[in-house]
Amino acid sequence: MPVSNLITVDGPSGSGKGTVCHILAKKLQWHLLDSGALYRILAYAALQKNIILSDSSALADLALTLDVSFVSNGSGVDTLLSGENIGDKLRTEIVGQAASEVASIELVRSALLARQQAFLQAPGLIADGRDMGTVVFPDAAVKIFLDASAEERATRRFNQLQGKGFDVSIAQILSEIKERDFRDRNRAVAPLRPADDAFVIDSTSLTIDEVVEKILTFTELKLNISTE
Ligand code: DC
Repeated sequence: MPVSNLITVDGPSGSGKGTVCHILAKKLQWHLLDSGALYRILAYAALQKNIILSDSSALADLALTLDVSFVSNGSGVDTLLSGENIGDKLRTEIVGQAASEVASIELVRSALLARQQAFLQAPGLIADGRDMGTVVFPDAAVKIFLDASAEERATRRFNQLQGKGFDVSIAQILSEIKERDFRDRNRAVAPLRPADDAFVIDSTSLTIDEVVEKILTFTELKLNISTE
């Protein structure tokens, strides 16, 4: 039986997923699961505890016992690890690469499964990730796969970082994006790929608003509801 109060949005980094999912969750007043944040938090906690990133059983134990909460703060969401707000420590390149490494470990993925599924609560959930429609919520009625060319994703990231005052090279960003894409799409467990029943959207030449509009129209048709 398809789960109707659930929209999964999968895709590579830089496809616009994060922003689109925030807008959808706000518009529908549904919960939001940022599953990438869970992998980043786990990687951050492992680095803090000096756990070697190839030690699958230590990482899986850590994944099962992590004390994580996401708390609304009015303008966004605070990420708390054992009560400490670590939101701004999760977006560094080191944590991103470590997250991609721990995410390729099967034991880690299964240790995080129930935690992710517990986010599905009334009135509904927008689930943002790589394997939301294929593994974590295979029964979702609405599955989206959001893609964009690697060059466009690198340009978006470049503009974002430059806007924050970082001195970055677009060639370097493009090569990091290609490296991470390769790892995420070719790993043995839960590789990044569209579910067979996903609606694939290429956002290369679309604005965020156009992507949101497409998803809402698809959702209305699929669920026979109005999202106005
Ligand atoms: O979306 P993000 O960049 O915050 O994700 C961090 C890493 O975690 C990224 O390398 C892919 C991985 N990830 C995953 O394997 N499965 C998910 N559902 C979400 C993220």
